[in-house]
Amino acid sequence: MQNYFTRLITCAIASLILLTGSLNAAEESRTLLNLNASEAANLRSEMRALLVSLSEVLAAMDENDLAGVEAAARKSGMVMVGQVEVSLKEKLTKPFIMLGKSVHVGFDDIADAARDGASRDDLISLLSEQTNRCTTCHSSYGLQ
Ligand code: HEC
Repeated sequence: MQNYFTRLITCAIASLILLTGSLNAAEESRTLLNLNASEAANLRSEMRALLVSLSEVLAAMDENDLAGVEAAARKSGMVMVGQVEVSLKEKLTKPFIMLGKSVHVGFDDIADAARDGASRDDLISLLSEQTNRCTTCHSSYGLQ
């Protein structure tokens, strides 16, 4: 009986250590940005706008509406950079800014391709490069 309890407790402790270890590992693998509340809200709001563009681009592609693809992508292009809070820009590191810029350039590329009558295959290939930029940054950076 005692042996059973000892094994149960050992097992519970081992699971706890493994769980804590994996949670810590998940947090520590990313660089966490130290932003104030307003800067974090600004960044999150820009992020949600990127996802809206992505969603609208796909919906327009589904309708074979190239003008719709162009409009949806263009609003998250370089035009968006001017709308970011100055204090936020100053706090971000160069690699983060470069990754962010590549996403805006990527949306302009999608908009240009749609304007120039790109095929569905070309757009899918640009979209796959684009979502790869999102996941690359998300796996490297988070907010504190
Ligand atoms: C330069 C880095 C970077 C790039 C590129 C990037 N993101 Fe983010 N994103 C972040 C960070 C940092 C957060 C905050 C994560 C956290 O809460 O820890 C975030 C959060 C988000 C969120 C959650 C917003 C909220 O309200 O909490 C969404 C949605 C999002 N990103 C969408 C996207 C999409 C779509 C793309 C690509 C088109 C993208 N992001 C590209 C850095 C980036």
